[in-house]
Amino acid sequence: MSKRVLSIVGARPQFIKAFPVSRALGRSHEETVVHTGQHYDTMLSDVFFEELDMPDPAYNLGVGSGSHADQTARMMIELDSVIDAESPDVVLVYGDTNSTLAGALVAAKRSASLVHVEAGLRSGNRAMPEEHNRIATDHLADVLIAPAEQAVDTLRAEGVDGEIYETGDVMYDALLRVREHANEVSTLRSDLGVDSGEYVLATVHRESNTNDGDRLAGIVDGLSSVAMPVVLPIHPRTERALHEHGLFETATERLTIIDPVGYLDFVHLLDGATLVATDSGGVQREAFYLDTPCITMRDETEWVETIDCGWNTLVGADKNRISHALARIDSPTTKPQLYGNGRAASRVVEVIANA
Ligand code: UD1
Ligand code: UDP
Repeated sequence: MSKRVLSIVGARPQFIKAFPVSRALGRSHEETVVHTGQHYDTMLSDVFFEELDMPDPAYNLGVGSGSHADQTARMMIELDSVIDAESPDVVLVYGDTNSTLAGALVAAKRSASLVHVEAGLRSGNRAMPEEHNRIATDHLADVLIAPAEQAVDTLRAEGVDGEIYETGDVMYDALLRVREHANEVSTLRSDLGVDSGEYVLATVHRESNTNDGDRLAGIVDGLSSVAMPVVLPIHPRTERALHEHGLFETATERLTIIDPVGYLDFVHLLDGATLVATDSGGVQREAFYLDTPCITMRDETEWVETIDCGWNTLVGADKNRISHALARIDSPTTKPQLYGNGRAASRVVEVIANA
């Protein structure tokens, strides 16, 4: 049955996740996209809509930055008015950001059915803002769309009320669609003077790493220990944190720090990297899909399957653990299919049709 779907996005990875799903929805449903405005810099927002040829969202709530409570509350007030105007059958939210939580809370208090894509992920770390967002969203959702079996098991163990489906990871769909094109059009490796297989890529943006000067220093020191160039497209909160913790000069001397890049440039960089060092959820999976070994600069991960099969290693924010992992880069010889077959988006749309 054709549905009126209100899709809520707001942060960089959500634009990428929405890309294949919106395409698939457009064939048989009426979708209205709302951008909360959580991310607003061109290189964290507009670039994704342009590169992925996605129409401008029907609404941009312009909420911007703030404390968790302030940002989430302002999103909720604005989203409530959008629901009044649109009367959707389904509210679709992705992942674990404050935009996800705001959408979930508002939908749950209205008559729309709430669908959560990327349900069932847990880090087990109750201090993490994303963990609050995931747990609350999963327990409010009517339909929970999990990327893997373990996420399904987690949801069952927690006794959520909604219906659970396993579809695979929509980020895999997005990556498969752009990989070849990204490698054709991106000139970033040659612009930076780095050759395939001869550099490390890094990303850092987690609150736990940017708010804590000791952890951030451990990351800068650990990454600096490798002989290869380390390319770090920098998230604005990390740039600010490097300044606040007096680490900016050291970091820029030792690492190749560049502005955040668009998705095509990022995929091109990740595809050619010897290894990626990250604290990102999306990048851990993208590395796996592209056969790029990954070290995760966190104390835990939600994407445990990538660790179990040897493609990802947890190293915390400790200088010695990071430099040790960088010194012995290793690609396993086998790779299981962990998060579906790259056709998750059409499964998500089938589920929505029956929601
Ligand atoms: C958010 C998500 C995180 C996700 C990440 C994706 C939450 C709690 N966190 O983290 O789960 O992994 O997005 O990238 O929702 N800023 C800018 N320009 C922007 C956006 C942000 O300069 O366009 C700066 C502001 O100083 C802001 C800070 O970055 O205070 C943090 O932004 P925010 O959206 O609150 O969190 P992220 O760290 O981006
Ligand atoms: N990404 C990008 N440009 C960058 C850094 C990351 O396009 O400079 C993409 C990357 O391909 C991945 C997504 O952004 O798909 C991950 O977003 P982020 O790490 O900000 O958030 P998380 O996945 O941790 O929530």
